[in-house]
Amino acid sequence: MTKPLLQIALDNQTIDSATSTLKSLGNEVDILEVGTILCLQEGRHAIETVRSLYKDKIILADTKCADAGKIVAQNCKDAGANWMTVICCATIETMIAAKNVMDDIQVELYGDWTFEQAQQWFDNDIKQVVYHQSRDALLAGKKWSEEDLNKIQRLIDLGFKVSVTGGLELDTVKLFQGLDIYAFIAGRNLREAEDPAYAARAFKEEITKVFES
Ligand code: 5RP
Repeated sequence: MTKPLLQIALDNQTIDSATSTLKSLGNEVDILEVGTILCLQEGRHAIETVRSLYKDKIILADTKCADAGKIVAQNCKDAGANWMTVICCATIETMIAAKNVMDDIQVELYGDWTFEQAQQWFDNDIKQVVYHQSRDALLAGKKWSEEDLNKIQRLIDLGFKVSVTGGLELDTVKLFQGLDIYAFIAGRNLREAEDPAYAARAFKEEITKVFES
């Protein structure tokens, strides 16, 4: 089992705000995600800005792409992203088209999807999924459950690199102990911390404690 990575979700409303988050914690995290909110607000300029600041880091464009996979992927790649997300209800053709352009894609698991679909993604060389607690479900009171952990284990057993996200807090990390998690994706609890760099370091220390003990 390898130690999980830490991904910052830049769901900032503006490029300036994302830049300020990055100034604090950009060097502390492993993967930089240009969040869906920032993509929708600022488009390709957000990706270009993050790439101009971090030449060598993995940049994920969280497009949650549902169609036009090839064009969206090419736009993200031209702007400087390495990876992008596609939504789980996209057709396999959309996913393959995006994957053919990017270094890698992540399938965002929201709502209804099946393990048969997951097997089809895997058979088409799509090896990353993001197990998601939606912001809105969390706001409505939903919590990480045994059912979620069992599904994550099944995805790992199928061979996927599974990242997890959705309102993650320091205390949430230990819930995943024993699971071969690829990356923890955190947004608000890092960005909105008084000291985002300190919060990111604390997250990484917690990951080390939980996954290397
Ligand atoms: C929302 C997302 C977020 O980027 C992800 O859930 C992390 O954000 P937070 O930690 O603030 O919930 O994909 O669509």
